[in-house]
Amino acid sequence: MTDLTSLNLMEQATIECPFPAYRALRDQAPVYRIPQTGFFIVTRYDLVMEAVRNTEVFSSQITQGASGSMGAYPEVIELFEKEGVPFASTLISADPPVHTRYRTLVNRAFTASRVRAMQGYIQQIVDELIDDFIDRGEVEFVTEFAIKLPIYIIADQLGVPRADMQKFKDWSDASVPIGLDIGRDAELARAKLVIEFQHYFLDRIEERRRAPQDDILSDLVTARLEEEGNPEGRPLNGSELLSIIQQLLVAGNETTTNAFAAGMVLLLDNPDQLALLKAGDDKQMRTFCEEVLRLESPVAGLFRVTTRDTVLGGHEIPAGSLVNLRWAAANRDDTVFAEPDSLDVCRRNAGAQIAFGVGVHFCVGAMLAREEMFLGFRTLLRRLANVRLADGHEALEHHPNFILRGLKQLRLTFDRAEVSQAAE
Ligand code: HEM
Repeated sequence: MTDLTSLNLMEQATIECPFPAYRALRDQAPVYRIPQTGFFIVTRYDLVMEAVRNTEVFSSQITQGASGSMGAYPEVIELFEKEGVPFASTLISADPPVHTRYRTLVNRAFTASRVRAMQGYIQQIVDELIDDFIDRGEVEFVTEFAIKLPIYIIADQLGVPRADMQKFKDWSDASVPIGLDIGRDAELARAKLVIEFQHYFLDRIEERRRAPQDDILSDLVTARLEEEGNPEGRPLNGSELLSIIQQLLVAGNETTTNAFAAGMVLLLDNPDQLALLKAGDDKQMRTFCEEVLRLESPVAGLFRVTTRDTVLGGHEIPAGSLVNLRWAAANRDDTVFAEPDSLDVCRRNAGAQIAFGVGVHFCVGAMLAREEMFLGFRTLLRRLANVRLADGHEALEHHPNFILRGLKQLRLTFDRAEVSQAAE
């Protein structure tokens, strides 16, 4: 038995490797009120499923700090009121039926056919990024590949030119939910970047209103939101568009980035599975991607707030409680996944992982992320051989973030594979 009072999920040592803590919680207290924070964490697969499906009681309408963190400083609120655009509550922070209207509209911009049509273009970016470092025999994989691939793709879809990429990345970082109070100055700096982001995109939105193009931003700008008593619907206003764009920016960047870096380490730590993958087919590569999502869960857990007193798994949760649904813990539940801590590229039920969430908020970008991961990993394995950690495991460090799990850096060395061709 682990003494649960000795667990500190917020401390860096646990953030580095939270899995023993998750196991202890699943076994001993699958609905647990974290003493340091007062919020609940749910770690068992069946209970996470039960809560996430009950949107009436486990609501997504959570008020966060202006720049998406949990701190709410008066100076930040004032700055936002003076210079920023108030964010509408659209997708991730809305409940049905409001959520349903926005989600229907955004789904139309993220169709399967649009993602299929992007395959050739994703492959091209993957190859260009590898071309940029392959002759060196070494790479800082996070900045040179894992950050760039998803950010280029979502930036293209939102009409942001490559010249503005650093700004785009800074805005994305500033918008990332941290789940920790980061202090007034850091909060102010984040808010300034978020305001800059808002004004930049108000200009892009105007451009698209005048001249729509074949991209997701144009689809969003020209879409019409269904409204009662207005069969024609109405266009989204600036606040609504900014809220959706900010979510695409964050959700589409950090997450896929973290999946790539974590996946590379999993491959290096599991040479037998790497050999199976190299000898295997696309089906195994797709299973590998599911396994990366299951084992690492780049979005470790997200919050809900209870709308009334409730009971989950026999535990009472009072109205108004913050509840963290821990996908990362549920994804290693041994009642669902045999040998849950092992990478298994032949796992039959790998697709039962819930790293993209479940139910009405299921990730809008899941199809796009899966395609980026599949094409990215397949090409990396084809073009690089004998990949090694340049500085050993001791050098691996995760960002201090309770919500998103991601490596800060990943220095690799490698040889060029003999058949160093782009995928056919
Ligand atoms: C490996 C990559 C990704 C992971 C692990 C991931 C994870 C998640 C999770 C867990 C949720 C559920 C939120 C909830 O239940 O409250 C979610 C929602 C969402 N994701 Fe992703 N995501 C990824 C990639 C992407 C990409 C590439 C995009 C867009 C370009 C995206 C856009 C969104 C949006 C807009 C939502 C909100 C949906 C809603 O509330 O209806 N995600 N994602």
